Parts: sequence; C-alpha cells; structure tokens
Amino acid sequence: MKTLLHFFLFLITLWVSIIIPAVHSQCIKNQQLSLLQFKKGLVFNHSTKLISWNASTDCCSWVGITCSRNGHVLGLDISFEHISVNSSSLFHLHYLQSLSVIKLDGNNISAPVPGFFANFSNLTILSLQGCNLHGTFPKEIFQLPSLQSIDLSYNQQLDGSLPEFPRNGSLRNLHLSWTKFSGLLPNSIGNLKMLSTIDIDACEFTGPMPKSMTNLTQLVSLSMSFNKLEGSIPSFSGANNVGDIDLSYNGLTGTINSTHWRNLTKLSSLILSSNKLNGNIPASLFSLNLSPTGLLDLSGNQFSGPFPETSNVSSYLPNGLNLRVDFSSNNLEGPIPMSIFSLRGLKTLDLSSNNLSGSFPLDGLHQLRNLSELDLSHNNLFLTHDYTNFSYSSFSQLSKLSLASLKLRTFPNFLRNRSNLIGLDLSDNQINGKIPNWIWSLSNLESLNLSCNSLDSLNVHSINITNLDNLDLHSNQFHGQIPNFQPPCYLYYLDFSKNYFSSIIPSTIGDVLLSIGIFSLSSNNLNGIIPESLCNSPYLTILDLSNNSLSGTIPQCLTTMSSLAVLNLRRNNLTNVDEFSHNCSLKKLDISGNHIQGQFLKSLVNCTQLEILNLGNNLITEPFPCFLRNISTLSVLVLRSNKFFGHIGCRKTNGTWPVLRMIDLAHNNFSGEIPGRDLTTWQAMRTSKGDAPLNISNLQWLYAGASFQEDTIMVTNKGSEMELVNVLTLFTSIDFSCNKFNGSIPEEIGELKSLYALNLSNNAFTGALPSSLGNLSELESLDLSKNKLSGQIPLELTKLTFLAFLNLSYNQLVGRIPSGAQFSTFDAASFEGNKGLWGPPLTADNNTGFSPPKQEGNHSNLGHEIDWDIICPEIGFTCGFGIAIGSLLFCKRWRKWYYRAMYNMLLKIFPQLERRFGHHRRHVYVHQRYWRR
Ligand SMILES: *[C@@H]1O[C@H](CO)[C@@H](O)[C@H](O)[C@H]1NC(C)=O
Ligand SMILES: *[C@@H]1O[C@H](CO)[C@@H](O)[C@H](O)[C@H]1NC(C)=O
Ligand SMILES: *[C@@H]1O[C@H](CO)[C@@H](O)[C@H](O)[C@H]1NC(C)=O
Ligand SMILES: *[C@@H]1O[C@H](CO)[C@@H](O)[C@H](O)[C@H]1NC(C)=O
Ligand SMILES: *[C@@H]1O[C@H](CO)[C@@H](O)[C@H](O)[C@H]1NC(C)=O
Ligand SMILES: *[C@@H]1O[C@H](CO)[C@@H](O)[C@H](O)[C@H]1NC(C)=O
Repeated sequence: MKTLLHFFLFLITLWVSIIIPAVHSQCIKNQQLSLLQFKKGLVFNHSTKLISWNASTDCCSWVGITCSRNGHVLGLDISFEHISVNSSSLFHLHYLQSLSVIKLDGNNISAPVPGFFANFSNLTILSLQGCNLHGTFPKEIFQLPSLQSIDLSYNQQLDGSLPEFPRNGSLRNLHLSWTKFSGLLPNSIGNLKMLSTIDIDACEFTGPMPKSMTNLTQLVSLSMSFNKLEGSIPSFSGANNVGDIDLSYNGLTGTINSTHWRNLTKLSSLILSSNKLNGNIPASLFSLNLSPTGLLDLSGNQFSGPFPETSNVSSYLPNGLNLRVDFSSNNLEGPIPMSIFSLRGLKTLDLSSNNLSGSFPLDGLHQLRNLSELDLSHNNLFLTHDYTNFSYSSFSQLSKLSLASLKLRTFPNFLRNRSNLIGLDLSDNQINGKIPNWIWSLSNLESLNLSCNSLDSLNVHSINITNLDNLDLHSNQFHGQIPNFQPPCYLYYLDFSKNYFSSIIPSTIGDVLLSIGIFSLSSNNLNGIIPESLCNSPYLTILDLSNNSLSGTIPQCLTTMSSLAVLNLRRNNLTNVDEFSHNCSLKKLDISGNHIQGQFLKSLVNCTQLEILNLGNNLITEPFPCFLRNISTLSVLVLRSNKFFGHIGCRKTNGTWPVLRMIDLAHNNFSGEIPGRDLTTWQAMRTSKGDAPLNISNLQWLYAGASFQEDTIMVTNKGSEMELVNVLTLFTSIDFSCNKFNGSIPEEIGELKSLYALNLSNNAFTGALPSSLGNLSELESLDLSKNKLSGQIPLELTKLTFLAFLNLSYNQLVGRIPSGAQFSTFDAASFEGNKGLWGPPLTADNNTGFSPPKQEGNHSNLGHEIDWDIICPEIGFTCGFGIAIGSLLFCKRWRKWYYRAMYNMLLKIFPQLERRFGHHRRHVYVHQRYWRR
C-alpha cells in the first residue's frame, strides 16, 4: 500500500505543480537554449507540459519550469509525461547548474544517470522513479550537502552503492526500492541526522544494519524488506518518531529485545517476518507503544518457546486498541496462554504454522470483542468445541476465520447465521459428509476453502452467494454433477480439482461464470466436450481441465483468447486442435496425453510468448517443428512419445532458443545426427549457475519486471518468464532417448554447463564418449545405454562429482572402468553389456576372473522421466495466480503472500531444495526424489 501512497503523492505533486503558476521572470537566454536543445532530443506524444516550451516565450513561463527571481532555472518537473529521453538529450541539462529540483519520474530514460548532476551544488530534490534507468548511479550525488530527497525506486536495471555520507548531510528521504543497489549500508548513514524515510525494499544490500542507525532520531519510516541484511537489529531507543519498521525477508539473526525499542512512541507497524530471528518472543513486546491500529508481524522467523504471557502487560494497552498480531510460521510451542484473552483490543491474531499444542477453548474468544480475524491453522491445537455455549453476540466482529489443518471433524456450528463472515478456511481437516446448508446462506462470504477434507455432497444444486469470489473445494469426495451457479456470480477463483465429479461440463457454464479467472476441474471423471461458453469470461487466465475423459476438439475460441495464459488439457481423450490465432497469449500449453494429431502445429508460431509447450503422448506424425525456433521465450519443449520423424537440425531457421532449459524428444522416430552447432545456441544451458542458492531473496526477481508505468500485463509477462526460468534452472535437461539418432555424440555437448540430466539411451550413436562430458559439472544423471558407443570410458567423467546416476550399459565400450570419486558408488548394472569393460564393479580388482552375478533387467529408464504430473499444475497454478492478480502487485501484504506461496510451492515440488541449497555442499543422492522410475 505504501507504494500506492507514493503514487498518489506523486499525482498530488504533479497536480500542484500544474496549478501553481511558476514565478515569472525573464529567463536567462542560454538556459532557455539548453532547455530547447533538451526538448529537441525528447520523443513524446501527449506531453501537456512540453507543448508550452517554445522559443518565442520566456522559459520561466513554461509548464514544468520554475525560475529564481533573477531568471535562473531552479526546477524541472516533467514527471509522468510518457517522454522518451536518451543520454544525448540529457546531456543538454549540463548547463543548468542552478537546478535545485529535478523530477523526471515515470518517463522512459533509457540511459545512465549523468555524473554531472553531482556538480549541481544546489540540488535538493532528485526524483527519477520508474524511469527505466540503467548503468551505475554516480554515488557523488548522494554526497551533495544540499540534497534532501532522492528517489530512484523502480529502476530494475540501475545498480549502485551507497557512499560515505558527509557529516552535514541534509538528506531526509532516501528511496531506492526495486533497484539493483547493493553493498553495505555505510556506518556514516548515522550522519544523516535529518533522515526520516529509508525505503530500500527489494534491493541487493548485504551485511549488517549499522549500529549508527541508533542516531537517526528523526526516522519515521524504515523499510528494508527483501534484501540480504544479516546480523542483529540495532536498538532504536532514541528514534521516537518511527511509525513503520519493515525488515521482513532478510537474514537478520538474534533475539528480539524489545526494551531497546521502548521509546518508539509512534510505532504503528513492526514487520520482522521471514528472517532468521530466534529465541522467545519477549512478553514486553506487547508493551511497545503500538499505535491504536498497530501491526506486529514477526511471522516466518524461528522464534521458539512458549507464546508470551500477556496478562502482565495488558495494562499498558489503551482501551479500544486495534492491535494486529501476526506470529505465524515460527516454532512457538506449548499452549496458547489464556492471558491472550486479556489483549482486549486484539483485532487480528495469526498464530498459524507453529507447534502450538494443548487445548484451546474457543469460548474464551468472546472476551475479545474486537476480534475480526483469527488464524490458528497448522498447529497441534485441540479446539474445545463446545460451540453450543456461544451466545450469538460473542465476537460478533469476526469476519475471517482460518482453522485449517486442526483435525476438525465437524463444521463449527457457531458460525451459523454469522452473516458478517467473509472468509472461512477449514481446509485440510477430517470433516466428512455433507456441507451444511447454513454455509450456503452466509451471504457475505467472499472466500470459502473446504479443500482436503472428505466431504461428499454439496447439499445444493445451485450455489447462490453473490459475493463469493474464491471457492476452493479441491481434494474431497464430491461426486455426480458439477453444481450450478446462480447469477449474478462473481467467482474469480474456482477449484473443484481432485474429486469424483462425473458429469459433463454444463454447456452454459461460461455464461454464468463471467468473472472467472482461474478455473480448475482437473482430476475428476468429467466427460463430453469442452464447452465453448468458457471463452465468454474476459478474465480467464488459467484453465485446467487435465486428467478427465473429455473428448472432441479443443474449441477454437480458447486458442484465440487474449487473456488465457495457462491452458492445461493433459490426459483427456481430445482428438483435435484448431489453429492458434494471432491473439494467442499462452505462456503454458499442455495438451499431452490425448489422441491429438498434428495439423495445428504450424499455427503455434502465433503463440509468441510460449514458455512451456508439452505435446507429449499424442499421435503427432510430423517432422521436427523448426518453426518453433522463432519463439524465443520457450524454455520447456516436450515432444516425447509421438511419431515425430526426421532430422532435428534446422538449417533454414535463424531463431534460437536462448532460454531453453529442458528438451524432451524421447520415444519418437527422429533420426540423423545431433547438430552440435545448434546445441551451442542454447544459451541458458551454457550458463553455469554454480551454487547460486535459491532462496527468497532470489525469488525477488520474480517480479523484477514490475515497473511503475507498465500495465499489469507487461509486469506479469516478465514476472512469469522469470519465475519459470528460475524454477527450471534446477532442471536443465536433455532427453533424446528411444529414437534412431546416429553418428557420434557431438563434442559441443560439453558446453551445456548447467545440464542436470542427459539421456541419449536407446539410439544408434557410435564412436567414443566425448571427453567434454567431463565439463558438465552440474550433471546428476547420465544415461547413454543401449547405443553402439565404443572406446574407453574417458577419465574426465570422474570429475562429475554430483553424478548420482550413470548408465553406460549395452554399448561396445572397452578398457578398465575408471575408479574413484562418484564412480565407486555405481554398481555393475551401470556397466553391464559391454564385453570389453573390466574392473570393479564388474570384475574384482585383481582380475582373477571373479565377476559379480549378472544383473539382468531393464534399468535403462531408471531415474529419467520428469514427473510432469507434479510440476505442471503446481507451476501453472501458483505462477498463473500471480499473473492474474497482477493488479494487486503493489500491495505489500499481497506480495508477501505470493512469495511465501511460491517458495512453499517450490519446496513442495522440489523437497530437496532446502537440503540442497540450505547448505553450501550439495547432496549427491537427490535424483530419486524428483525423477520418476
Ligand atoms: C546556489 O544558491 C546560492 C544561494 O541562493 C547561489 O548564490 C548560488 O549561485 C547557487 N549556485 C548555483 C550553481 O546556481
Ligand atoms: C551517534 O552520534 C554521536 C555524535 O555524533 C557519535 O559520537 C556516536 O558514536 C554515534 N553513535 C553510533 C552508534 O554511531
Ligand atoms: C528513551 O529516551 C529517553 C530520553 O530520550 C532516554 O533517556 C532513555 O534512555 C531511552 N530509553 C531507552 C530504553 O533507550
Ligand atoms: C535487553 O536489553 C537490556 C538493556 O540493554 C538488557 O538489560 C537485557 O538483559 C536485554 N535482554 C535480553 C533478553 O537480552
Ligand atoms: C439467491 O439469493 C438472493 C439473496 O440472498 C435471493 O434473493 C434469491 O432469491 C436467491 N435465489 C435463488 C434462486 O435461491
Ligand atoms: C478415452 O480413451 C480411452 C482410451 O482410448 C478409452 O478407454 C475410454 O473409454 C475413453 N473414454 C471416453 C469417455 O471416451
């Protein structure tokens, strides 16, 4: 929300500067000339300001220009005018050294910030928010003694670092959020005695928070989330003006000592979520001078021990306080103390995802008359459910209740008739039977999540809750017909997946769900055709109908919808696809596991934003689709198990796949040699990612495309592209197995340094193993079995320290099996069927003729097939969710939720991530977790 606030502040300044006439005085000729030269280099369409800039009038009368009495230009404000500025036009500002205010926000300045700004000795305000700046920011500008306010935020290409600040600095506002500023926060930041706002969210700052920050007594707002700060949090004892502190998503450590913060008399929010803080939460935290709408958010840390007793501090709390407390995702244990009920002003309480245990009497909540949101999900609490004792009036403010994963067996009856309830989450409990009727008469309900229970009946034919926009019933035992929805219906998110619905999809469903954005019916027993009415929602972004028995043709209108980003129809009985039109905005298309033939293939060229394309397990009988090379965003291409044929070289196509991470051509009739030169154009596979840890702060560039003036689609285009690249960095792989490829394995394969898995088995490759394979330092799985490879096993292969799976069996290899490193962990099955190979593990070392019993059986497919079942829907859903809700992007709470969901999703799909990236040394035996047998 803060960002929105900034935006409005900018609008206000903009407006003020339009209506307040500039001081009119005769402007100095050469300054006028400089401004005209400056204007000459600008590209603009609708600038209301620049129109007034012409040689025949006094430049001090131009809109956006202010002058001093003696005609020196003091102010230049052409913010948000959609102007394109380049470095040569900027150069003309060189002569305007008298400038004190420069505001160019929201224009497209595709240039570095000129160093000569540092010579503008009277510069007080420099505002370049969202200008698409790049290069390194000249840090001398920060040292200008006159500088009071600097805003460089939302310039994702701009890097820089903070200098030592002068003793007499007058800087008040420092805004660098969403830039690539990095390095340490200098200790001299404590010299900026006037500093009131520090906003450096989502930069790349590292190191500790300087102790000298204690001296920043004028601090009002401190926002440093999404950096890589570490060490303990300094005390803010003297800074009694601070209203907001947000240090979330860093690596801050230590315990919280709230006595250091007693003097924060204006504190309205304290957000320390997602750090590495540990210890116990001090009870005295509740006696901080939180303002009446205070927010205390310590979620996602490692606080342990019991939840603090609060009774002895409740006397500090003024009556009517609307305290919001969020201690979610910590390691708090033991019972919730009954003294929590004495926090009379408590408005929201989120204790979800801890280890809290013991029984919790919901009855006690009636003492918290202001309580409006309660989340106790994911604990070991036993809720005493003597609901009958509730009087109707108790906690009548309650509007959101989350009791997920608490082993509930029945619906909490006391919610009956509670018409002000707007959010209810009872997911992941043990509730069975029917959904009680009273749920459907909660007329203000906006979000209902009953997923992961054992419910079997909706108990209504038609859902009639106008306000409902989020309905999640996945993973239950609902069967029979999909329910109807009573118009008007504003559902945006609807998930009925993993049930036993067995009807057709009603042909008019899309005429009622006119606001639907994310819709999943996946993994049911639905049959019949895909109704065309689904194309009637202008917001439909994700459609997942996978794992059903739908038949017929994919309606043409779906392939022309400009909103649709994710279409998942895998595992149905679909037989045909119409051509994809020029509108196609799909990023992820999965139609694998159907009976589809290939006529539509060429039209895929229209889907120029495709990132994932899965056509596997169909009946496509076509040559290699070289035209797909023109889709430069493609990072995953799966053609496996079709009847593709011919060579895969693309001589006539210029396009390359710079971000390709995964290519699976297995089980087709491809033949000929692998064109080594093509491999070298797959840039993403060539970049070695080293041991770059994947953690929350790396995820921050999920939304690196978020720029101030871009519309949400632009924003999320990039966001989604990024997140995929990020996920798939882990799974860079090539699978060409079970084809008729021949010739030798190209030496160039050794350039694909980020490869994790390479499978060329069951082909007709000849010649020696290229020694360059030893350069694939990330390789964990290598299968070259069942070819005609000859020669010795190159010693270089022993350099592959992460290799967990190796299969060279059934070739014509000769010589001694190299020993040492990973090689000692492979058994005979990796080498059998090569008559000329010897040495352990095939034969004993002393070569006395003893050889271990021959292991027969087909090992060739062990550990090579990616589990698309898991990866596809999860990625589609979480990422797509981000796409769809792009407009909420600037809301901080939302962003936080999204990152957390994304991270949790990654951990769910790739459980080894934490282990792998949590430590510096990587674990070797990870492959079987995510590679399916
Ligand atoms: C800066 O302001 C001072 C005082 O108004 C003035 O004397 C001086 O000339 C200004 N400097 C420049 C470079 O315009
Ligand atoms: C705070 O400022 C004073 C005076 O400027 C200085 O002596 C002291 O070292 C500063 N404190 C810290 C922690 O830097
Ligand atoms: C709070 O401020 C007062 C006066 O500014 C000071 O004397 C006191 O030490 C401060 N308290 C803490 C805990 O730092
Ligand atoms: C918190 O800080 C105060 C004052 O510096 C100190 O006396 C107290 O021991 C500290 N508490 C903890 C738990 O470290
Ligand atoms: C749907 O609910 C509205 C308001 O609660 C009510 O007026 C209307 O009659 C209901 N429609 C049906 C078909 O039940
Ligand atoms: C779908 O295809 C499978 C296999 O071809 C077949 O067994 C099944 O009967 C089909 N189902 C429907 C509903 O057409």
